[in-house]
Amino acid sequence: MNRDDFEILKNNLIYFDNGATTLKPKQVRDAIIEYYNKYSANAHRGDYKISAKVDEIYEATRRDVCEFINAKEPSEIVFTSGTTNSMNMIVFGFFRDYLKKDDEVLITLSEHASNIVPWFILQKEIGIKVKYIELNDKHEVSLDNVKKAITDKTKVISLALITNVIGDERPIKDIAKLAHEKNILMVVDAAQGAPHVKIDVQDMDIDFMAFSGHKMYGPTGIGVLYGKFDLLDKMKPQNYGGGMNAMFLKDGYVELREIPTRLEGGTPNIEGVIGLKAAIKYIENIGIERINKYEKNLRKYLISELEKLDFIELYNKDNDSNIVAFNIKGVFAQDTAIYLDKYNICVRAGNHCAKILDNVFNISNTVRISLSFYNTKEEIDLLINVLKNSENIWKEIL
Ligand code: ALA
Repeated sequence: MNRDDFEILKNNLIYFDNGATTLKPKQVRDAIIEYYNKYSANAHRGDYKISAKVDEIYEATRRDVCEFINAKEPSEIVFTSGTTNSMNMIVFGFFRDYLKKDDEVLITLSEHASNIVPWFILQKEIGIKVKYIELNDKHEVSLDNVKKAITDKTKVISLALITNVIGDERPIKDIAKLAHEKNILMVVDAAQGAPHVKIDVQDMDIDFMAFSGHKMYGPTGIGVLYGKFDLLDKMKPQNYGGGMNAMFLKDGYVELREIPTRLEGGTPNIEGVIGLKAAIKYIENIGIERINKYEKNLRKYLISELEKLDFIELYNKDNDSNIVAFNIKGVFAQDTAIYLDKYNICVRAGNHCAKILDNVFNISNTVRISLSFYNTKEEIDLLINVLKNSENIWKEIL
């Protein structure tokens, strides 16, 4: 669907690495070029027309993001450089003060590094305990296992909406309900979720959430941090400087601005915000539900074709996200990726920044296909043909 908007696909490229980053449609690229050609000023700093236009688009994007995830108000939306930046702000800007020694944070072994490493740092710094919710035999989070993991010390549950290797979608709304009954805060890493499923932060009752522009057809270097107003209002800025202060005096007195401005110190990524605006519009024009349905069908087809190949080991055939993890039996994942690249097929291989997942899978590296709405059954057929000929893999890659 919409393949003509993606210039790069005209070169016979089969791009199956959308979990790493998506391709950028013409509409996003054009919006960025228009900014540089026609109104390339700073935000919130100029008293002239093109600067006012930047301000207007910058704040309109905040409203667009607010609507996209159904936040209560635009001031709950902070622009960051990406999911990692947002997660670090959540952990170090809020939870560093909120948590005390021996408080427990629940995550799983299948989280991305951005939802593990910052918590580990707090564990070292203030003595919190990072605990793992047990995964079921499909490597998924069940409500029962969340219940079992909660103790009276649990203060935060921090989970990906969709994980980046297993691709399971978590029942966030149910988990958040359970969490809130016990005064536990719910943090969601929506990097892999935002481009593929409808998110309603009010309905799901999410306290903090993070996602990236570049995984949803926008540019790199732009991300979103969502927080419920009262919580976000308690977050400490991680960047002090221009833009975020209301005044400061030579005796050291500093007065900060309101949220979200005080959490966006320094000149922001304006082209990123403008690109993100175009990306959201692009997704909304297609419709997130339509994207979701198309990708689910495509996944079913991919799984059914891969299952016919007895030399393929599939790791996550039971969920219905856009992510499929596999290996050619006896072949190192990176070798498979190099082989596929010879046929212009882009996949990701390795541990995908989920470095403790090998405790669940018993293997460290997988080949990952992450689909998008611009992928097709024909591309899958080509992949399957190339895989069928993979007995020559050694000749081809050596
Ligand atoms: N987090 C990205 C991925 O899973 C880069 O590939």
